[in-house]
Amino acid sequence: WLQPAAALVFGYLLGSIPFGVILTRLGGAGDLRTIGSGNIGATNVLRTGRKGLAAATLLLDGLKGWLAVVLVAQWSPIDAPVAAVGAFIGHLYPVWLGFRGGKGVATLMGVVLALSPLSGLVYAVAWLGTLALLRVSSLAGLAAAFSAPVAAAVFDQFDYVFLFLAFAILVLWKHRANVDRLMAGTEPRIGGGTKGG
Ligand code: G3P
Repeated sequence: WLQPAAALVFGYLLGSIPFGVILTRLGGAGDLRTIGSGNIGATNVLRTGRKGLAAATLLLDGLKGWLAVVLVAQWSPIDAPVAAVGAFIGHLYPVWLGFRGGKGVATLMGVVLALSPLSGLVYAVAWLGTLALLRVSSLAGLAAAFSAPVAAAVFDQFDYVFLFLAFAILVLWKHRANVDRLMAGTEPRIGGGTKGG
């Protein structure tokens, strides 16, 4: 049990690095948790008007998930999914921020790409496609998250179907305020305006 526990803790430590908060602070744009939606993800960094910081947050939040899985897989391939769980939970519930973390879309992309590159590709297409079409970040993230278990099933990677579904359900849980706004037609679009308004 020592190896899976180590993979979990290692994944958690990587996943819990709140890049959005760190980069926004370093960039002199204030405390991200007091800006916009208060979320620590790239979408909210974008609301500071700092596109470069938002892009870097997206990249690093994805990279930490990918790296956690890939590094653990080097040393113990069987524990790679455990590292994925650790990294994802680390991002959602970081001890450093009183367990108030992000919504998981970027980190999940990294994790899915590392475990199942084909599903990761589907995830990226679902995410970017929905974003380009509707320009609503939360909706795009949710579409991407739920595309992962479907893709894993289509590609016969049944080991990952349940895991990816559990991740997607957690992403949905974290987006519950966004879902309320989507229903009410008040969820902001990227670049201004609201869905349906
Ligand atoms: O991944 C987060 C995004 O889907 C929504 O972020 O700040 O609009 O709640 P936000």
